[in-house]
Amino acid sequence: MSELRQRPVPRDAKSESTSAPKAKRGDKDSSGGISLLDVIRVIVTLVVASCGLSYFVTSSESFLWGYRPWFTRWPVVVSYLRGPVLLNPEQLSLYNGTDSSLPIYLAVNGTIFDVSANPVVYGPGGSYNFFAGRDATRAFVTGCFKEDLTPDLDGVEEMYIPIDDPEEDAKLSSRERKLRREQDTRKAKTIVKAQVQHWENFFRNHKKYFEVGKVVDAPSKAPGEGKRELCEAAKQARPKRGEQAKGRQRNQ
Ligand code: HEM
Repeated sequence: MSELRQRPVPRDAKSESTSAPKAKRGDKDSSGGISLLDVIRVIVTLVVASCGLSYFVTSSESFLWGYRPWFTRWPVVVSYLRGPVLLNPEQLSLYNGTDSSLPIYLAVNGTIFDVSANPVVYGPGGSYNFFAGRDATRAFVTGCFKEDLTPDLDGVEEMYIPIDDPEEDAKLSSRERKLRREQDTRKAKTIVKAQVQHWENFFRNHKKYFEVGKVVDAPSKAPGEGKRELCEAAKQARPKRGEQAKGRQRNQ
């Protein structure tokens, strides 16, 4: 019995027992640190999960949450390689969808956009076909799709200038009235500018349309044409100064 208790411990076993805690300490070190491989694994997992979720959420349309880089769209690449298209109004009119061998173009504020991706709206019989093959910036502002199919914005700000109220006007001197008119015109022009910018950005940033070039040699006015009158719908929509003031009083 005592012999058993005193049996010498084999050298290997001894070294094992002394080295065991060291080995354990080593294991902990290697599992506790974050290696480059771990980081890559996490990133790949997140990317795959995001793509999968995007594919599911966008009803199998996109792996990138609707983002489609321009270089993955063939017509955009061709247009980029070809350089900007420069068309005068007459040439632009050919791109109105009637010739199926040509793309459909429209222009806003002198910039031409390719809208061929939406022939239902811009092609023949489409609800907005009247915008195709021309620069109809004025109609984009006024909404007068028959009368205002022109780039001429002269005087269009009038639609945002309140109609004067004779009762209120009587209380002001002619200088005050002039100043007010100038202020109103400045404000109205800013609104028009923002509206034009809105539509330009709409076509420029649209996922299916793209910019192709510029309208050139566009006459600022048709021969003999003076300042354009505001279309009837825009006239009707003008705010009334008296009503504005009354509205302000009601709200106080
Ligand atoms: C200043 C006034 C307006 C302008 C400039 C304008 C312009 C446009 C444009 C450019 C599109 C095509 C968008 C695309 O390419 O996807 C569009 C679509 C559309 N707009 Fe207007 N719009 C105006 C007012 C209105 C009004 C008042 C209505 C409703 C009564 C309306 C109803 C629609 C509808 C339903 C579409 C979807 C396309 C379709 O089904 O034809 N719009 N609008």
